[in-house]
Amino acid sequence: MTRYLITSAIPYVNGVKHLGNLVGSLLPADVHARFRRQTGHDVLFICGTDDHGTPTELSAAESGENVATYCDRHHAIQADIYRRFGLSFNHFGRSSSVWNHRLTQHFYRRLVAADLVEERDHQQYWSAVDNRFLPDRYILGTCPECGDGNARGDQCDHCGALLDPLDLLNPRSALSGDSNLEYRTSRHLFLRQSRKVDCIRDWIGQRDKWPTWVRSLALGWLTEHLGDRCITRDLAWGVPVPMPGFENKVFYVWFDAPIAYISATQEWADIDPGRRDWHQWWWDPSDVEYIQFLGKDNVPFHAVSFPVTLLGSGEPWKTVDVIKGFHWLTYEGGKFSTSRNRGVFTDAALDALPADLWRWWLIANAPENADVDFQIRRFAHDVGKDLADVFGNLATRVSTFTESRFEARIPIEGEPGPDEIRLAREVNDRLEALREHHENLEFRRAAAETRALWTLANRYFQDQAPWELLASDADRASVVTRFAANLVALCAAVSWSIIPTLASQVLAKLGSPSDRPTWPAGPAIAYLDANGGKPIRRIPPLVSKLSDQEVLGLEARFGGG
Ligand code: MF3
Ligand code: ZN
Repeated sequence: MTRYLITSAIPYVNGVKHLGNLVGSLLPADVHARFRRQTGHDVLFICGTDDHGTPTELSAAESGENVATYCDRHHAIQADIYRRFGLSFNHFGRSSSVWNHRLTQHFYRRLVAADLVEERDHQQYWSAVDNRFLPDRYILGTCPECGDGNARGDQCDHCGALLDPLDLLNPRSALSGDSNLEYRTSRHLFLRQSRKVDCIRDWIGQRDKWPTWVRSLALGWLTEHLGDRCITRDLAWGVPVPMPGFENKVFYVWFDAPIAYISATQEWADIDPGRRDWHQWWWDPSDVEYIQFLGKDNVPFHAVSFPVTLLGSGEPWKTVDVIKGFHWLTYEGGKFSTSRNRGVFTDAALDALPADLWRWWLIANAPENADVDFQIRRFAHDVGKDLADVFGNLATRVSTFTESRFEARIPIEGEPGPDEIRLAREVNDRLEALREHHENLEFRRAAAETRALWTLANRYFQDQAPWELLASDADRASVVTRFAANLVALCAAVSWSIIPTLASQVLAKLGSPSDRPTWPAGPAIAYLDANGGKPIRRIPPLVSKLSDQEVLGLEARFGGG
């Protein structure tokens, strides 16, 4: 039996994330983790916050807080939002934890031992006004590519160009605006990635389950960009470099961040050491499949740089089997942008509507193969149709009918006929397809197949019209009601990975296990015909359709205008 190790890219701690971040890693990772647990697998789902890096330091400075306090506060805010979205992490750690400090330094020592680290002089901007070096985002200036005046030292947000601080025209300090900058030389450590090109190419060659576009992105990066990488910074916030002469430096955020997948697992294990062992997941396990979920900008770091760290250590660390990458969710025709505060942010989304509405739409429209545009009108229309008209309507109608006509018990009378046999066959086929889509990490298809099951159930109940059979053929009315009620439970159980709250509400009313419903096994005819005599309760409307008024309200709030 395979065990599943699942990680989602760890979001930067500085500030609440938008729906694009959610659908680009966290949410699909959760859906898959839930699906694998439902099908009886041992799952470890790990995430956390990415606490280091200059944007976080700058945000802390802006809010007048000590950076550690700032990170504590924002870690808690994000953890709470993800809990409310139903993200079922086994552990939500932090890259600034003592576990991550320890493990990052361990990798550094191993890489030194493998002769993969080199000390070099590196020219940096230094400001006399600020009395410090200005790495990455501490420096602003004019983009050499597009001429935008607010490009940052590591990247231009306007055109997306990746930059080195020395590329900027008219550079100035992001702290003081000082433009009278000096070049100063500072010693830095470089990871000699270029020595590992062949090793990484072979390793990628052995991964046969990556989506094609992820593989070509990785191989392209390997060929074009795999220069040696500076893994230290002249900063105080980060993992200290355990090396004389480097007392005022820390490791670069991208060096320590992915290591947090492992160190967060160590932290998780230390909570209950008698029963949990991180080695079983990370130290040369034979039965673990490791899947990473991440946005396309993160592919090079996970497909190339992090593997250099892991393989370069010479130790038997588990490396990723499948990278599930995502394209962008765009927002009303433009970019979601945290720095410009443009888009639907996860806290505002939860204030406006229940989590499952967002979960459903985002998974049904996940940007798996191309960018996808989020439009609030389309969102409102789709969730009204799928969740209110189809799934919700089915659950309420069938349970209300059972309650009023069969004294709130699933009727036991009657034998299934040809229509039920045909129905069960179709359910079998659809369940098989749905399982395959989940196994193949095809989220849009999984949502479409889930919806198809709901529609099938609705149609069966509508076509058989048991309310008309009550007088003419009471046994038929019973059979149909029994099959319909069991179908509702089945629909809820297999929707649970995507809409856990709504699914659990339905299952609880039907007296079925609702915490983690197991995936239906065996021929459908058996469980669609089961449960005669079982008491159930009426399921009130699960989702109300948004009124025109409400859609206008959402549009005013989230319409991107
Ligand atoms: N914080 C990064 C981002 O949001 C992702 C880091 S993923 C890790 O883009 F693997 F490096 F941790
Ligand atoms: Zn630019």
